[in-house]
Amino acid sequence: MREALSIESRKRDHIKISLNQDVSYKEKTSWFEFVELVHNAAPELNEDELRLETRFLDRAFGMPLLIEGMTGGTAEAEKINGNLAEAAATLNIPVGVGSQRAAIVRPELARTFRVARDRAPDGFLIANIGGVQLVEHGPELAVKAIEMIDADAIAIHLNPLQELVQPDGLANFRGLLGALGELRRELSVPIIVKEVGCGISGDAARRLEEAGVSAIDVAGSGGTNWTLIELIRAEELNSVEKARVAETFLEWGIPTAAATLEVRAATSLYVVASGGMRTGLDAAKAIALGADMVGFAHPLLEPAARSAEAVIEKLKQIAAELKAALLLTGSGDIEKLKAADFILLGPLLQWAEQRCREHPKLRNKLNHARR
Ligand SMILES: Cc1cc2nc3c(=O)[nH]c(=O)nc-3n(C[C@H](O)[C@H](O)[C@H](O)COP(=O)(O)O)c2cc1C
Repeated sequence: MREALSIESRKRDHIKISLNQDVSYKEKTSWFEFVELVHNAAPELNEDELRLETRFLDRAFGMPLLIEGMTGGTAEAEKINGNLAEAAATLNIPVGVGSQRAAIVRPELARTFRVARDRAPDGFLIANIGGVQLVEHGPELAVKAIEMIDADAIAIHLNPLQELVQPDGLANFRGLLGALGELRRELSVPIIVKEVGCGISGDAARRLEEAGVSAIDVAGSGGTNWTLIELIRAEELNSVEKARVAETFLEWGIPTAAATLEVRAATSLYVVASGGMRTGLDAAKAIALGADMVGFAHPLLEPAARSAEAVIEKLKQIAAELKAALLLTGSGDIEKLKAADFILLGPLLQWAEQRCREHPKLRNKLNHARR
């Protein structure tokens, strides 16, 4: 009981800090400024022909945008989850809920997640639990999370740095791959593995693919900085040692553009690019690098605290920018955008060149970039 109460207050802190303070990376970005899509001045396309429809996890969606899981467990979270789910259903895109652990320990909190299904009876909902909890409790917890919202997929979040610096965290990941394999055998819905802002490397993605997951959501660095959020909490809770570790690792992580390139080269899984995605142009660049979907969390938090309409308006803005990028690269649809010409610059180019030995398919991307 005490554990669930503390999860609830932690979730409240997360929303409060994320809404009221600047919790993005200060120095590191998601590195999309190091990707240039090549302008096409003669696109042979009309504006009204541009198509955003796409496929993800063998389902058809209205556009390649995904609402990342953020919250649950409190009254405010209930409102946020409801508004996000309604917006996602209206636009026919997937939507996640935040970690459901609190509601599994305290079933009376389940309604703060189930509201997503109530507001989106036919929507594509993604359940969420932590890798640490999967290792500790086995598939049962994940099955309960899926049943709670009648989910279409489950996201298992891996957050080793967050667990290390969280005052009440536990960074026990030994046995994760075996636990994922066991989960795969138990489930009929696909498993997405995600980070929460430090990115997933090609090598980690390959091992996760072998364990049977269907998609990787890279959740790279450059957007919401969980180490900073936990640093603020650790200082408030006088957890001095955790706070100092958090300070040292504040800029740690694989920038989203680099993680997207690596995971695409290393696996044949569905790839979600998330972490610091802020515009439709970021989304277009991520898709050209190999993403199937582009995930947004923080930019949708404040609109979701207001209304479903505010979330829809924000996503329509991003979609309009993505459509502009389609025309400007001469790509009539998302499949063509995946083959659009791009140039890698600066540190992203260095990253890609140095990682070619590890992931030979990256060489193709580099050749593509040089074409
Ligand atoms: C307020 C907030 C709460 C979050 N809670 C969760 C969570 O419970 N589970 C999870 O997997 N990710 C969680 N995330 C991480 C996001 O899903 C996403 O991976 C990350 O924030 C990067 O995206 P962004 O830069 O667009 O915010 C949360 C993010 C925010 C902003």
